[in-house]
Amino acid sequence: MEPTASLTPSAPPSSSTTHSNTQPAKPIASDQHLRPLRDLRISVTDRCNLRCTYCMPADVFDRDHQFLPKNSTLTGEEITRLARLFVGQGVTKLRLTGGEPLLRSDIREIVAALAEIEGGKPDLAITSNGTLLEKLAAPLKAAGLKRVTISLDALDPALFSKIAGSSLAPRRVLDGINAALASGLGVKLNTVIQRGVNESQVLPIARYAKDLGVPVRFIEFMDVGNSNRWRAENVVSSAQLLARLQEYFDLSPIAPSNPSETAKRYCHHDSSAEIGFISSITQPFCQNCTRARLSADGKLFTCLFAPTGHDLRALLRVGADDTVITKTINSIWSQRTDRYSEQRADSPSHAKAEMSYLGG
Ligand code: GTP
Ligand code: 5AD
Ligand code: SF4
Ligand code: SF4
Repeated sequence: MEPTASLTPSAPPSSSTTHSNTQPAKPIASDQHLRPLRDLRISVTDRCNLRCTYCMPADVFDRDHQFLPKNSTLTGEEITRLARLFVGQGVTKLRLTGGEPLLRSDIREIVAALAEIEGGKPDLAITSNGTLLEKLAAPLKAAGLKRVTISLDALDPALFSKIAGSSLAPRRVLDGINAALASGLGVKLNTVIQRGVNESQVLPIARYAKDLGVPVRFIEFMDVGNSNRWRAENVVSSAQLLARLQEYFDLSPIAPSNPSETAKRYCHHDSSAEIGFISSITQPFCQNCTRARLSADGKLFTCLFAPTGHDLRALLRVGADDTVITKTINSIWSQRTDRYSEQRADSPSHAKAEMSYLGG
């Protein structure tokens, strides 16, 4: 059981010190590169039922791996309170990630509480591996979830198992995708292609997504965390993937719908679906990055590749009021200078947080 009883934001400790409506007197400052804070990605657990080689390799995340103890993980109530404060500061998009967010027994309650945040009506999405989605899609939709992004790196069962470090079959994910579509959730697929591993799956996955009418985004293998044995030569660039896909499909570029989009998108000529490319390695998109991440234990990271985060959980647990927390968030964001992907080549290697802990 996750450590939460009710997710309704708790009553303020003192009406003189807490803003009840969370609307800031002044909207959040932009960071040092004039980027506003618009998206909050919240890792609700550092645990996962898969062991994808590029994220949680099984020999590193083994039975001796120290996952966060339950009382270190933010409760649903803490997540909701922080999300409410971020929305009050101008965040319009909330994404629950992990680890695998659907492993949380209170995930429905969290979604329901976030969907009710007043003032901003945030776009509410989850990134999931899909293996638990068949049963949870309908309840999550009923709770107020709008969209789900599902990871799918192989349709071939042997390859799926090899990449996911699991005996589960891709059928489980496909059933999850079908359930999500049947429930009326917006669905996108994420596919990480690694050279020499799953290039064979590019066309089958692109065909599958087109037939289903859902967007698929091919993500360049990234040097996130310290465990995934990333090497530049194992990256298949988006340009290479696009060229390959154009041999089979008639694809036209689509103009970005907002400047902070991670994916460069293309549309099939018959408008059946879109294909996107997330090119953190070859075409970094830091310039317009409006994303903050909250780790499973409540640290605020201003970049996917930041070595450390700022401890908001400590503030919550000493009883800080909304004004203090909001000011802290503002101060952290206004000092932000991150643009790791643009500096990667010149950056000395540093210890990075794991994506499963920090949020994808
Ligand atoms: P949509 O709102 O559906 O467009 O979501 P999104 O573009 O944020 O996509 P999603 O959350 O599915 O992110 C897709 C993947 O892109 C993530 O899982 C990461 O692998 C990568 N990604 C997302 N944000 C960043 C970022 O800020 N920096 C880097 N380097 N990669 C990112
Ligand atoms: N490189 C690129 N994408 C990654 N993801 C996880 N680790 C990596 C990595 N090293 C993706 C997953 C999932 C999302 C959470 O992030 O495929 O779709
Ligand atoms: Fe789990 Fe997602 Fe990481 Fe795979 S990529 S190990 S499904 S958190
Ligand atoms: Fe944003 Fe950091 Fe990713 Fe650049 S590398 S897009 S700053 S999260």
